[in-house]
Amino acid sequence: MLNIIHKDHKNIMQLLLLVEDNINLLKDEQEIDYQLIKSITSYLKKYADKYHHPMENLIYAHYLKYRVVEDKVANRLVDEHKNLKLITADIDEMLDMIMLDAIIPKELIIEKLSGFLSLQRQHLMYEETEVLPQIAQTLTEDDWAHLNLQWQHKKYEDPLFGKKISEQYKALSESIYQS
Ligand SMILES: [Fe+2]
Ligand SMILES: [Fe+2]
Repeated sequence: MLNIIHKDHKNIMQLLLLVEDNINLLKDEQEIDYQLIKSITSYLKKYADKYHHPMENLIYAHYLKYRVVEDKVANRLVDEHKNLKLITADIDEMLDMIMLDAIIPKELIIEKLSGFLSLQRQHLMYEETEVLPQIAQTLTEDDWAHLNLQWQHKKYEDPLFGKKISEQYKALSESIYQS
């Protein structure tokens, strides 16, 4: 399970690089492909919010059973997941509006995309440097066997980085490998 999570993080980081490239293009007064960013938010909504974060929450909840951790620290991961879900949905809606030709000031688009980017990155850093190392150190083989049994979505395939790329993400997938 930890392997899946680390792999997801690498994948998400690639997506965030694309977002960053596009923010820079916007700052440079160039046109960007909003449909591409929309594919990223759509993927994050359908995969990260539905499977990646719940898997982390499941593992972390199990880890917390054995540790006395201050409430604020204990709740941070789940809180960040909730917050990311909101901001991702917000960006996703903004992109819909842009594609419907709503007039949104470019500065606002840059500001929102940049906020989204830094929140996503800061969350990945928190997990990679603090949460996951603690989990890896603490949980035993038995814990992992138990968690594996508890995880309900074993059959779910990643529609973008998995074996079969869904039609919806073909263009995004090509951009990732070109970048
Ligand atoms: Fe997370
Ligand atoms: Fe994560």
